Amino acid sequence: MGNRRSVQPLPFLPLLLLLLARLSQLWAFPFSPSLDLDVTPRTTVFSKGLLGSARFTGSSQNYSTLLLEEEARLLYVGGRGALYALSASNIATPANLTIDWDASPEQRKQCLNKGRDNQTECYNHIRFLQRYNGTHLYVCGTNAFRPLCAYIDAERFGFSSGFEEGRDRCPYDPAKGYTGLLVDGEMFTASQYEFRSSPDVRRNFPFPTLRTEEAPTRWLLEAEFVGSVLLRESINSSVGDDDKIYFFFTERSQEQIAYPSQTKVSRVARVCKTDWGGQRTLQRKWTSFLKARMVCSVPEYELHLNILRSVFVLQGRDAQSSIFYGVFGLEWKNIKASAICQYAFSDVQKVFEGPYMEVQDSKWREYTGKVPEPRPGSCITDLHRSQGINSSRDLPDNVLTFARRHPLMASQVHPIGVRPLLFKRSVNYVKIAVHKEPALDGNIYTVLFLGTAYSSGSLDEVASLPTDDGWLHRAVDIDGEMHIIEELQLFDRLQPIESMVISSALRSIYVGSRSGVVQVPMSACQRYTSCYDCVFARDPFCGWDGRVCVEISSRAQRSNLTQDILRGIRGCRENSGNVVHRRRSVMSGDDVLLQCELRSNLATPRWTLNGKELQGYDLGSGYRIGTDGLLIIGARAQQSGSYRCFAVENSVSVLVYLYTPH
Ligand SMILES: *[C@@H]1O[C@H](CO)[C@@H](O)[C@H](O)[C@H]1NC(C)=O
Ligand SMILES: *[C@@H]1O[C@H](CO)[C@@H](O)[C@H](O)[C@H]1NC(C)=O
Ligand SMILES: *[C@@H]1O[C@H](CO)[C@@H](O)[C@H](O)[C@H]1NC(C)=O
Ligand SMILES: *[C@@H]1O[C@H](CO)[C@@H](O)[C@H](O)[C@H]1NC(C)=O
Repeated sequence: MGNRRSVQPLPFLPLLLLLLARLSQLWAFPFSPSLDLDVTPRTTVFSKGLLGSARFTGSSQNYSTLLLEEEARLLYVGGRGALYALSASNIATPANLTIDWDASPEQRKQCLNKGRDNQTECYNHIRFLQRYNGTHLYVCGTNAFRPLCAYIDAERFGFSSGFEEGRDRCPYDPAKGYTGLLVDGEMFTASQYEFRSSPDVRRNFPFPTLRTEEAPTRWLLEAEFVGSVLLRESINSSVGDDDKIYFFFTERSQEQIAYPSQTKVSRVARVCKTDWGGQRTLQRKWTSFLKARMVCSVPEYELHLNILRSVFVLQGRDAQSSIFYGVFGLEWKNIKASAICQYAFSDVQKVFEGPYMEVQDSKWREYTGKVPEPRPGSCITDLHRSQGINSSRDLPDNVLTFARRHPLMASQVHPIGVRPLLFKRSVNYVKIAVHKEPALDGNIYTVLFLGTAYSSGSLDEVASLPTDDGWLHRAVDIDGEMHIIEELQLFDRLQPIESMVISSALRSIYVGSRSGVVQVPMSACQRYTSCYDCVFARDPFCGWDGRVCVEISSRAQRSNLTQDILRGIRGCRENSGNVVHRRRSVMSGDDVLLQCELRSNLATPRWTLNGKELQGYDLGSGYRIGTDGLLIIGARAQQSGSYRCFAVENSVSVLVYLYTPH
């Protein structure tokens, strides 16, 4: 159990050697004073031990698009060739609504004729599913390499119109990085839509459609998009600012970077919502597109995690106080490692207000010359309006020409604390959701839900052990240190997690994969069977009531509950653990294994014989202490008696097994 999964990378690229050398440093020093570099999940829960979960499996596969509407308690699911409306309270409830929407046989034939893969590509994969207005949803599917979109009447859950051309809104390729938002009847998407086209950030409607620029400066280079968010920065803005849409992606780096072995960088880009494009320059192009590099590094090991796999935005009371979490990996897909970095939006905004980069002698350098007024790339504010500039179309040509050539900021966005919140080797996290939970001590704890897959792409799976497919890790930030409470196996048949949404109101996580959707409660306190187990878990949701471990939120009266998130030791009476009694005689000359299974991967075993401590590592002792029990080799007469096994966790010793002679 526990940390049994180790990675054995097969380095075939010389480039990897440098990195491997660095990683081996990490292996050698698993604990640094500031960042635990390989946090072990406290407990491992296999799929048969999942409590309170619900499953949905329709007739399709690839449940890759989820839309949660908390107030209506509905979870809309987009799969391959079908859409479902499920009860978010319990997704297993029957009488679900379904829309079958597969590609026509004719379209599938054309797709096959184009040489596409008939197992994956020549189907209708739902890629976009969002609320359009009070009565309708909007959906786009790949439709066997000929994307289509349509409106859905949410109430009767059926198409309300004919299909619309989806070519400019939805990628052809079901696996291509893609993100999009529908806000106030306007559609914003980002992807590399067609096979040969350049990646693009678009406003698809209303008219005029807007795009990114390709010449003389390419604004995007082989970008793989992972997420987007709208921040309503116009609300209470003292300068009459506009709302903005932020896009998150990884792209090929254009600028010189300090780590020559890496070719990609993680980015955040933003556009202003009421951008109308320019009049002559930047016609039908964004006038407000800016992008910046996002850094997620372990500085003392010069380890730079440059591939952004997923983001989660925790919206604050206002845009300034919003926080976003990024899941990062390494460029080499056969080395598994993940880092979670946490960023403040106020830091992102500062970078966009800072210096620009510019191409000089075909190299990107910080631009130190004069910047035209009003500041290029900014939204239209009161300052603009006071100068008679009411929309982006009124912007002067010199400002737009500058914006066209300066999409990249010189400063980088660094994470809060200048280091990852969590680094984990030998695991590929691919999805993240974040929740804030108040605990008994009055603190509000940040709980991360992290979904795993063996690989973020399709490259080589050789070095990857399939055991990481489809696990959910629950982790809590305790004073800047991450504690992984548990790892949960979500599916019997291992498969990567394809989608994930969280509902704080319904206290559930919804996870989509190839074979179905699973709804997992945010906590399952009844899994902790003793006071020690409940308290050692340091699970902010759970407290011991004297008899059982309960969800704190379920109790109005909390004064009798025990919980110790900060240290995980206080509150349990001596011997309130569950002790397993066994009768077992140790006969002279026998080899005997006395079992002692520890529930926690963080616990170590301690043994006594007739109350005296046993030293298992002393070769002459005749004992071996392992993770599964105590081995007595060639027992002698003085080795008979009463054996006790204690689980030592957080420096507290708890009796778990007691062996007495017949
Ligand atoms: C869809 O699921 C199948 C297996 O059921 C898998 O082979 C394929 O890669 C998945 N497609 C996508 C786009 O994830
Ligand atoms: C896909 O192609 C393979 C081999 O060409 C063929 O055996 C199989 O029947 C096809 N599957 C479908 C669903 O068309
Ligand atoms: C929502 O949009 C649909 C499709 O354009 C339209 O038919 C419907 O009347 C709209 N509903 C509302 C409440 O505006
Ligand atoms: C901007 O709006 C103001 C007030 O409505 C108007 O007086 C002015 O002419 C407008 N400027 C342009 C360039 O359209």
